Order: sequence, then structure tokens, then C-alpha cells
Amino acid sequence: DYDMQDKIDYVFKVVVIGDSAVGKTQILSRFAKNEFCFDSKSTIGVEFQTKTVTINGKVIKAQIWDTAGQERYRAVTSAYYRGALGAMLVYDITKRQSFDHVVRWVEELRAHADSAIVIMLVGNKGDLEDQRVVSSEDAVEFAEEQGLFFSETSALSGQNVETAFLKLLEEIN
Ligand code: GTP
Repeated sequence: DYDMQDKIDYVFKVVVIGDSAVGKTQILSRFAKNEFCFDSKSTIGVEFQTKTVTINGKVIKAQIWDTAGQERYRAVTSAYYRGALGAMLVYDITKRQSFDHVVRWVEELRAHADSAIVIMLVGNKGDLEDQRVVSSEDAVEFAEEQGLFFSETSALSGQNVETAFLKLLEEIN
């Protein structure tokens, strides 16, 4: 691990945002530790995890920040977004409201984050296909309109989680 430190080419800060209970913490645990926890508690305040990956021959340390989606814990904004080069904007494919609110999260990013921030829209809980209420087509259309990358994931099965993070990190420069 000490050896790794010497070899790091870049440190990229990434923020994970979206409504409460969409699976932000679980997506991050899946990516950083390959873990999933069924009875995860709502995040209070801000936490971060790191994961070092190699992309195009460069060693990149991703410092990924996770915060509470609940309004009452959200006193953070500018400090949270400061220096962030990427954002994972997560909604739950089984909760229409979490998708309707994506536009607000994009506004918050545009207001507080660097204008060059790379945004990945993520429809999570893809394992709950039988409870889906947000179609992939609607999400693709919104992402194209807004200039966002898009992916559907499952933190539970792990489907697409790593791919989505790697794509986001790859697009940052
Ligand atoms: P806040 O901290 O309140 O903002 O929530 P969060 O967005 O971090 O959600 P969290 O990761 O705590 O997950 C909320 C609930 O959804 C938990 O019960 C998780 O087990 C569940 N969950 C998260 N991801 C998935 C998934 O991909 N599939 C399924 N079926 N459940 C998931």
C-alpha cells in the first residue's frame, strides 16, 4: 500500500448525489470494497472512500464522497462540491420521484460544482426489474438533453457498478 502511494498519477474527487435511499452508499461500497449491506443506515453528514484504479496506464486514486440525500442533513453544498471532477447522480428505477428530482440535482451541480464536472446519471436497483417505473428510454433521453453519461446499475448484484465508475473516471481529465 505504501508502494502504491508513490505510483499514483492523479487523485480525482468524485461526489455521489441523489435522493435518500436510492442506494448511493451501497453503490460506493460495491465499487470500493465489493460489499453490499441489506440493512444500511441512512448516511449522516459526509463520508468518503477511496479506490485506486489504472486507466490508460495511469494510476488514479478516486476519492469518492458520499453524503445524505435527506434535505435535513444537507448543510454542505459548496464544501462538498469543491474540487469535484466527477459526479454520480443516482436515482432508483423503482421510485419515480427519485428520477423526477434528478433535474434538481443537476441544477445544484451547475450552481455549486466546477462547470467542467463530468456527470454520470445512474439508475440503480436494476435487479428489481419487476418493480421498474422509470424506463431506460426516458432516462437516456434526459441524459442526452443534459449532456450526461448514463448507466443502469445494481449495487445488490454488482451489475455495471464498476463499469459506470470506470467510465466516469476515464472521462475526467
Ligand atoms: P441516504 O444515505 O439516506 O441518502 O441513502 P442512500 O442513497 O445512501 O441509500 P443506501 O445505499 O443506504 O440504500 C438504501 C436502501 O436500498 C438499503 O436498504 C439498501 O439495501 C437498498 N439498496 C441499495 N442498492 C440496491 C440495489 O441495487 N438493489 C436493491 N434491491 N436494493 C438496494
